[in-house]
Amino acid sequence: MTISFPDGFVWGTATAAHQVEGGNWNNDWWAWEHAPNTVCPEPSGDAVDHYWRYPQDIATLGALGFGAYRFSIEWSRIEPEEGEFSRAALDHYRRMLGTCLENGLLPVVTFHHFTTPRWATTGDTWADPVTAERFARFCERAVDALGDLIGMANTINEPNVVALIGYMIGVFPPAKQNADLYVRASDVLIDGHKRAYEVLKAGPGDFPVGLTLSMGDWYTPPGGEEALAGIRRQHEDIYLEAARGNDFFGVQAYSRTRLDERGLPMGPEAGVEVLDMGYEYWPQALEVAIRHAADVAQVPVYVTENGIGTTDDDQRIRFVTSALEGVGRCLDDGIDVRGYFYWSALDNFEWAYGYKPQFGLIAVDRDTQLRRLKPSAQWLGGVARANRLEVPKS
Ligand code: BGC
Repeated sequence: MTISFPDGFVWGTATAAHQVEGGNWNNDWWAWEHAPNTVCPEPSGDAVDHYWRYPQDIATLGALGFGAYRFSIEWSRIEPEEGEFSRAALDHYRRMLGTCLENGLLPVVTFHHFTTPRWATTGDTWADPVTAERFARFCERAVDALGDLIGMANTINEPNVVALIGYMIGVFPPAKQNADLYVRASDVLIDGHKRAYEVLKAGPGDFPVGLTLSMGDWYTPPGGEEALAGIRRQHEDIYLEAARGNDFFGVQAYSRTRLDERGLPMGPEAGVEVLDMGYEYWPQALEVAIRHAADVAQVPVYVTENGIGTTDDDQRIRFVTSALEGVGRCLDDGIDVRGYFYWSALDNFEWAYGYKPQFGLIAVDRDTQLRRLKPSAQWLGGVARANRLEVPKS
């Protein structure tokens, strides 16, 4: 079977500053990696030195056949103290944008990908409304310096993960476990998105702006429907509704969440493979997420992240093939899906899991920082070039 994608379908890969740049010591994540009570197995350290090696990495992605590169700009580098903006950091990201354009890649910029400058993390951070104002001010300065080169923009990456894992589960900074703070943080993040949307649209350049969200498939046994609907509303729908009228919505999907009748996590189903991330191998998640996003947000959809952390590169190809078959079915049903970004371009710092999960198309030896293309990189680059996927007979 062959799946053909529409003309202009965007094929890309994604990274985030803190996961790849290295040396981002001035944000809340670095502080959390080094905190005495941290759950992080190892600090991000030099990461994969993408701050300095981006020219080579971006050229490689262009040569592989991709047409876009999604990366984030690091707030704590650009505004290292409140109100103090670094011209040098902004110039650095201008050079990155220019390098994307020179290599035929549409630059897709994320303005917040999990990290917040240390100076902005006193108190409740995203549960405090002042953080939305500070974030919008940062966006205004950044877009002023960069907007003319930006191809597409994401305001905040997965605000639902920042809220849930940072304020309810307590595994991401500020490591709170408090239901009130969780709801407050969700609201402040939505406010931050709305404010950022406005300033990005008002600044130089004319590019689509949207929000990205962690989504997926859901399961509950009979009797659990109501609990699941409430949880899904807080985790997905409030953001999808807030993004109505935006230029696009960024769907990010990896797996499935199983909840019991009371809405408590049930863990993986017996017989389903469990990945290094502790969740199920579940490529079906992407199709479910796209359909739900299109239905509720009612705007065009990009898959801004989809991928698998595995040391088995054949399994990566199988996973992406299955996920893309789901994208194909969505397109057949007339859903406006405009692109697919694989997470991630490079193996990188997987937050509270350290460097163990390997999501990259490109492997990195962190002692030498040498890069090695995995077969999946050539394969997905070929799919991107052809704008077509050959699905092997199973
Ligand atoms: C995040 C990435 C992360 C990826 C894989 C997404 O939730 O945006 O930063 O590395 O999933 O876990």
